[in-house]
Amino acid sequence: MACGTGIYPRLGEGDSQIRIMRYLLGIDIGTSAAKALLINESGEVTALAGEEYQIDTPRPGWAEQDPDSWWDAAMLSICKVLKRSSVNPQRISGIGLSGQMHGTVLLGKDLRVIRPAIIWADQRTKRQCDQIYASIGRERLIRITANPVAPGFMAPTLLWIRENEPRKFEAIDKVLLPADYVRFRLCGEVCTDATNASSSLLFDTQQRHWSVELLEELGLPSRVFPPVIESTAVAGRVTRQAALETGLAEGTPVVTGGGDQPIAAVGNGVIAPGDLLSTIGTGGQLFTPLDEVIVDPQLRTHTFCHVLPGKWFLMGAILSAGLCLRWFRDNFGGSYAELDREAAAIPAGSDGLLFLPYLIGERTPHMDPNARGMFFGLSLCHSRAHLIRAIMEGVVLAMRDSLEIMRKLGGTEPHRGIASGGGARSALWRQIQADVYNMELTTAEVPEQAAFGAALIAGVGTGIYESVEAACQKTITYSPPTYPIEENVRRYQEYYQVFKGLYPKLKDDSRTISRLIHL
Ligand code: XUL
Repeated sequence: MACGTGIYPRLGEGDSQIRIMRYLLGIDIGTSAAKALLINESGEVTALAGEEYQIDTPRPGWAEQDPDSWWDAAMLSICKVLKRSSVNPQRISGIGLSGQMHGTVLLGKDLRVIRPAIIWADQRTKRQCDQIYASIGRERLIRITANPVAPGFMAPTLLWIRENEPRKFEAIDKVLLPADYVRFRLCGEVCTDATNASSSLLFDTQQRHWSVELLEELGLPSRVFPPVIESTAVAGRVTRQAALETGLAEGTPVVTGGGDQPIAAVGNGVIAPGDLLSTIGTGGQLFTPLDEVIVDPQLRTHTFCHVLPGKWFLMGAILSAGLCLRWFRDNFGGSYAELDREAAAIPAGSDGLLFLPYLIGERTPHMDPNARGMFFGLSLCHSRAHLIRAIMEGVVLAMRDSLEIMRKLGGTEPHRGIASGGGARSALWRQIQADVYNMELTTAEVPEQAAFGAALIAGVGTGIYESVEAACQKTITYSPPTYPIEENVRRYQEYYQVFKGLYPKLKDDSRTISRLIHL
């Protein structure tokens, strides 16, 4: 598929006399779609496009995607953005990348994809996670990776491939994460960055390099792991082939970028400790930047590298957030706007109905692929609208677990709340977050923050902005805050006490149910 010539008129002599607007392109490889967003150097969005792809589930609990479907979707989105904006591609100073974290792309000797990527939502590797805990031990895991082992992460995935698909394992020449693959297709360079690499669980998060100790212990060949370069460094330049396919100009600098969570944090201006980013997308995340590595000794949250050297972040991640509402919509009907209106008519607390959002297992705080969802407190008084509101509240109560952990850990006291993701578009869901966290919340007035953050990173890497901080300051404005409503805060405080007690009582039953469906 080709969409351009890749050859454009050079900017003319006269152009250098007048001040020429420069543009930056951000590309985000999300879980359900690729997005491309073009901004000018003041941060104004010139054009935006997205293309969806599927998650394949060859078996219950498995989640795979074809890396070439990411590239096809990215390519089409770039073509559309160029067409919609009518900007001369020569004026694009740089391209930045963002992508879903943790997932594993395998490339063979010819640098072709060996098998579909196993992505972050995949739950098949519970046994390999246990194996890693047994062979490495919690203390060493904390010291080296700063993280719990979770299914869907590259480390257990590679062990699964070695056990179950030994021929494919033998054929591996390089392993990449999702954004790395699209960067490779754009500029031909095989590399990754510290934000993505630290999400693999094979990386020394403090020292910011692949952990030889872990690779040796797990018997993984170090030669397959790509070089790690700075998120803001230029990784390469658009190749002739990629220029032909996308319509971009050959030679345009491609800036490394990183994982979607830290890059979206940049797109929300969240780079300093004290900020709290609350994202409701397919999954949900509570994210706060750190100046030093802080690890939850109970390993319920994640500590990964942020985009700047000497910066990290603490993150609680729930697996089903917006996904819960999508599940409801797909099975019981209504558009998101209708669901929102229905839920808004129900009082805070849904008249005693609680929802546990563990539809595909859970990471923070339970780290349990067998955890299952539930409505609790159901009575004759409850209507469809109660179920919808309970789902929205259950998602935020589950995210409050992460905030509790952050507050107890100390060393980080988040106080400026920023809501992000699809959930931030709902005034009701923003209010529920402000009430459940008891915190004022604003939203960054930019669309598609991961793609926007990737464009800002491209601007830093190509010298348009002096620093990530300067880029955020120049381009991001915030909406007026949503304030917590005292009465709701009190009510949710009581509901939260019941909410947090439910899973521990149901843990064993969840495991039994999981076993029964796999019989
Ligand atoms: C973060 C996580 C997801 C993916 C996909 O830990 O699992 O946010 O990055 O968006």
